[in-house]
Amino acid sequence: MPESETFRAVMNGDLDIRHLAREDLPQVLEIERQSYSHPWAEAVFQDCFRDNYRLWAACQGDVLIGYAVVAYMVDEAHLLNLCVHPGRQGQGLGRQLLRHLLAEAGREQIRQTILEVRLSNDAAHQLYLAEGFDEIGRRPGYYPDAEGREDARVMAFRFSA
Ligand SMILES: CC(C)(COP(=O)(O)OP(=O)(O)OC[C@H]1O[C@@H](n2cnc3c(N)ncnc32)[C@H](O)[C@@H]1OP(=O)(O)O)[C@@H](O)C(=O)NCCC(=O)NCCS
Repeated sequence: MPESETFRAVMNGDLDIRHLAREDLPQVLEIERQSYSHPWAEAVFQDCFRDNYRLWAACQGDVLIGYAVVAYMVDEAHLLNLCVHPGRQGQGLGRQLLRHLLAEAGREQIRQTILEVRLSNDAAHQLYLAEGFDEIGRRPGYYPDAEGREDARVMAFRFSA
């Protein structure tokens, strides 16, 4: 796509959600490093290209602006990573990506989706609450942080029967 068309697609906001490919990893790693205090290494992403994982890329034109990594274990999905480019946050894209991955999980007969989120991550916590997740527990010291360790909320989204 010519550069001007890419720009127009981004401005129009048309979001395309497709499977993430290994070729996307340079863009993913760039966003990952800008978004997290403790970003995943490339080897962690590489290890997620397995049959029971679903990796999603959210793109506007040729530009990758978000991604999600979900692991399936029998009838349960574990959302391991959901991220939107810092320059594109707060525009409804994380919500669209989350709805997409939940719809796909539902289509594949997943019963519930669980995730961990840092206690301090208010934006993600609010998004998950708004989309129907409930807090089902805490994992003390689950995440590394600047002072040592930070607790995680464990949240679950249950698909109706
Ligand atoms: C969490 C994240 C994916 C949300 O994506 P986003 O595109 O910015 O979010 P959206 O614009 O779709 O917002 C959806 C909802 O999330 C919540 N939200 C988003 N940003 C928020 C903020 N800064 N403060 C509080 N709530 C916020 C709101 O409930 C919002 O709904 P509203 O606009 O109706 O109020 C994004 O902030 C991100 O990538 N953060 C860095 C990586 C990360 O922390 N991932 C989650 C790991 S568990």
